[in-house]
Amino acid sequence: MIKICCIGAGYVGGPTMAMIAKKCPDVQVTVVDINEKRIAAWKSDTLPIYEPGLDAVVKEALGRNLFFSIDVDQAIRDADIVFVSVNTPTKTFGEGAGYASDLQYWELCARRIKEVSTSDKIIVEKSTLPVRTAEAMERVLHSGENAMHFEVLSNPEFLAEGTAIADLENPDRVLIGGHETPSGQKAVQTLVDIYATWISRERILTANVWSAELSKLTANAFLAQRVSSINAISALCEATEANVNEVSHAIGTDSRIGAKFLKASIGFGGSCFKKDILNLVYLCESYGLQVPADYWRQVVLMNEYQETRFVKNMLRNMFNTIAGKRLAVFGFAFKADTGDTRESPAIRVCRELAAERAKIVVTDPKAIENAKIEMPELIDQIEFEEDPYKAAKGAHAIALLTEWPEYKTLDYQRIYDSMSKPAFVFDGRNHLDHDALFEIGFEVYSIGKGLKSHLQ
Ligand SMILES: NC(=O)c1ccc[n+]([C@@H]2O[C@H](COP(=O)([O-])OP(=O)(O)OC[C@H]3O[C@@H](n4cnc5c(N)ncnc54)[C@H](O)[C@@H]3O)[C@@H](O)[C@H]2O)c1
Repeated sequence: MIKICCIGAGYVGGPTMAMIAKKCPDVQVTVVDINEKRIAAWKSDTLPIYEPGLDAVVKEALGRNLFFSIDVDQAIRDADIVFVSVNTPTKTFGEGAGYASDLQYWELCARRIKEVSTSDKIIVEKSTLPVRTAEAMERVLHSGENAMHFEVLSNPEFLAEGTAIADLENPDRVLIGGHETPSGQKAVQTLVDIYATWISRERILTANVWSAELSKLTANAFLAQRVSSINAISALCEATEANVNEVSHAIGTDSRIGAKFLKASIGFGGSCFKKDILNLVYLCESYGLQVPADYWRQVVLMNEYQETRFVKNMLRNMFNTIAGKRLAVFGFAFKADTGDTRESPAIRVCRELAAERAKIVVTDPKAIENAKIEMPELIDQIEFEEDPYKAAKGAHAIALLTEWPEYKTLDYQRIYDSMSKPAFVFDGRNHLDHDALFEIGFEVYSIGKGLKSHLQ
């Protein structure tokens, strides 16, 4: 029986390992973490992360061939394959602060693996890492006196939060990078065979280890770049009366462009896009490639511009003052179907609204607890309310920042009746039926269309 250990029981480690365990009953999977609370939650009825379909996958394998533990050393020692799925946040200090990946967690894992191992192992980079990290890891793993052989593979994760289970069950592709040596290729084959249990071989791509590492950063940069590109056009649409939805549809039907990731919005969030692009910028700069670095940096700047532009539009349309006005923020998660609030556009929007001294009330079906943690400095200034009707009561405006499906079906007449007038809706996701809202009496702002007003 192959034994897998995964270090890091987060948004990636938990779901990916649960899926491998579900699909491969002959493989024993142990997920370990230093965060005891997280490990306890994975073993409980309330999982530490919200992801549609995850509960059933975990339940099927838990205790059969899926285990969660805080005994990191034992799990490493027992394993044939060690996945490392720890966080790789942007460095906040020293060289590369604000851009480079903070690799201290990864390196600690490498040192731990080297320290406690008593047999050869395949080490799999699951975390998103800068290109050529595998080289550094191999040097750590093989440093000093050590008879063991560690073969490092790169197997970046392409799942998207909110659709993680569907993405893992039926991925567009799985990418496995390894060295072009006999032991490298043997290790690649071992991992290919595991994924091939449920994924067709043509969707399992193999590559050299550096290509695999760089492909993950590149994929995220391209996805984010599409969002920033259509958002740049949305600003121009508002200035020219072009309609961004129509432009997006018109260009998306070109098969060379494709329709996905072309929806204008307040912008992208999540723990990965910004971090990975800034890491790409840092990498380009460290190889002396200033123009490519500046090109990718602009994707992040455009995203920040879009968030700030949204707040400025709120302020301008609400008669240049929102001080003391109750504003209801509908949705704080960075996207629908997740409770994750990391780098959510809602954070900057709330901070900028708070700076204008608005009275903010945040509602979200899954993310209120995380939202409280995101803005410790504003905790006394912001009200949190699970019920969107109560959140909107007495408010001057609703700012919709997450495209939760349930927000489409609320009784907006009831909401309108309970709000201060004129009542505004600022739809940061172009998610609602704007004509219907306007009919009810709302002043309606949408991205790329601007304000539709009864007042002019
Ligand atoms: N979240 C996503 O959608 C996503 C998608 C693809 C790739 N990734 C990448 O996957 C990696 C993990 O992301 P995540 O969102 O799961 O992060 P996360 O913060 O949710 O989880 C990481 C976990 O690693 C644990 N950890 C850190 N150091 C440890 C150590 N030395 N020993 C044991 N456990 C340790 C932490 O306690 C934490 O629970 C990142 O590199 C990220 O860029 C994330």
